Amino acid sequence: MLIDSHAHIQLDRFDADRESVLERAREAGVHAILVIGFDLETSRGAIALAEKYAQVYATVGMHPHDAKDLDDETVRIFRDLAVHPKVVALGEMGLDYYRDLSPRPIQKAAFECQLDLAEELDLPIVIHNREAYHDILPILQARRGKVRGVMHCFSGDVEIMNQSLALGFHIGIGGPVTYRKSEALQEVAQKVPADALLVETDCPWLPPQFRRGKRNEPAYVRAIAEKIAELRDISLEEIGEITTQNFESLFMAS
Ligand code: NI
Repeated sequence: MLIDSHAHIQLDRFDADRESVLERAREAGVHAILVIGFDLETSRGAIALAEKYAQVYATVGMHPHDAKDLDDETVRIFRDLAVHPKVVALGEMGLDYYRDLSPRPIQKAAFECQLDLAEELDLPIVIHNREAYHDILPILQARRGKVRGVMHCFSGDVEIMNQSLALGFHIGIGGPVTYRKSEALQEVAQKVPADALLVETDCPWLPPQFRRGKRNEPAYVRAIAEKIAELRDISLEEIGEITTQNFESLFMAS
């Protein structure tokens, strides 16, 4: 039993075969999928899927790429969407200094604004980072004890993992852990405390090694979990148990 804690199956790349994708996930033992919004349209799409399928949950939020679109009206709409019973978190939100599609001060403002909303609504958050941990961590530090969530598709080293853990954050590990050159991430997967580990696909992006270059999908979270099980020298079933428990305590408790 596994949970894909970060998927984007609301995207039109899944329109032609979404039912088969969900069936393959079931067959792979994936019993819940958290569908992540990254702007208004994909947040609404995530909720629509959560309404249609019992095993699907949703988040709503604005990605740093589109930070410039987060005006007062959009925040008001997100606030309304977030009260939906199957919306379990806000995000993905954060900072992206790799692509820099919105100016950095605007990315920061949009991030802070969504953190305010998370505090107000008492919801966990899903953090997106690209080359920006040095700015994300102090922002979260300033709200220590007031916000909780997951570092999605964690890409830092053990030192950044420890700083994230000290802030009470979970570590989401995805497809890159299966790549041959991901030694730092494999060390993180080995050392992250059992009660802070989540697994995710970030599909349709970042497929595990055996599907590289192809579209990713929730069923492949199994390959990610198998790799982590191998690294920790425990069974796949144990990975399933601890990550399901962590998912429930982070996202279902509130
Ligand atoms: Ni994502």
